[in-house]
Amino acid sequence: MRQVTVTEHLLLHQTQSPAATGQFTRLLYDLILSAKIVSRNVNNAGLLDVLGATGGINVQGEAVQKLDELANKTLIHRMERAGVLCAMASEENADIIRIPDRFAKGDYLLIFDPLDGSSNIDANINVGTIFSIFRRERPESVDVSAEDFLRPGVEQVAAGYFLYGPSTMLVYTTGQGVHGFTLDPTVGEFLLSHPDIRIPSQGKIYSVNESNWHYWDEATREVVEYFKGANNELGRPYSLRYVGSLVADFHRSLLYGGVFLYPMDYKHPDKPRGKLRLLCEASPLAFLAEQAGGLASDGTRRILDITPKTLHDRVPLFIGSPSEVSRIISIYQTHREKASHA
Ligand code: AHG
Ligand code: MN
Ligand code: MN
Repeated sequence: MRQVTVTEHLLLHQTQSPAATGQFTRLLYDLILSAKIVSRNVNNAGLLDVLGATGGINVQGEAVQKLDELANKTLIHRMERAGVLCAMASEENADIIRIPDRFAKGDYLLIFDPLDGSSNIDANINVGTIFSIFRRERPESVDVSAEDFLRPGVEQVAAGYFLYGPSTMLVYTTGQGVHGFTLDPTVGEFLLSHPDIRIPSQGKIYSVNESNWHYWDEATREVVEYFKGANNELGRPYSLRYVGSLVADFHRSLLYGGVFLYPMDYKHPDKPRGKLRLLCEASPLAFLAEQAGGLASDGTRRILDITPKTLHDRVPLFIGSPSEVSRIISIYQTHREKASHA
């Protein structure tokens, strides 16, 4: 395949995208540089003193892995100097991250999950970085605040993820389809490897942590039983694949088809809406899923239509092939109608 770099692809194929400006190209370039540094640290984690936990607990109430912190610091350090952002938000930071006055600012807002799947890192299982980009809406005269980030995913100008695995990949969209690039470490460039990714309309795999079975409501159990049983469109049970890193489970669903589910559960009273975060996980992946011909729902609403109330809102997530996600939505709909007539 002819070697197409991200910069070339952006210029050649995204001209009609509002994102294809010099500022955006610079933003993506600095994101890519950050990811190359994170990739190097992930790939050498066993040789550096970056395995294990820091002993800290983050705003999510989760144990912080050393690589979480290192990835977060790498992204903040790099992106605050990019000269294209007016602020950032990270899964690991309670509040927004302002750009210090000594650095130039720009029109974009960046949200990221610096290291997704970090509980897997010590076992050398795929992890990733997820990012979401908005253009600032409110005038510069208004001091940037968390409010600038509380927008529905439909307003994103770009979204994507880096996947650190057997190869390091970048998958992104600017609203003109979904495109995958693979890092050639010999030249240090991401080269186009998966042009215009389309998700299969129906798959054969479902992906969910079934250990939550006892914490699910009746509708969710019926959803999962649909995939476990033979009374479905396949006429046989779906295969179950669950890595435990959202980026890896999503990437497989995007390429092979099928559905990833993280339903609401009653395991943690402090996380009543489910585990995954809207702004830095569900919303960017929903943009990608829809751009590839898939669907993303919280079981009732389109993920991209949901406006967060806080930076760290959580949502249930059902994402993947249209056939499976539509089926899930209809099962929840049937249960809501039954409940309303009860
Ligand atoms: P993060 O490492 O950024 O906190 O994300 C972890 C998430 C996501 O990657 C994955 O889908 C989910 O946690 C797995 O949760 P369970 O271990 O509860 O299945
Ligand atoms: Mn995550
Ligand atoms: Mn994370």
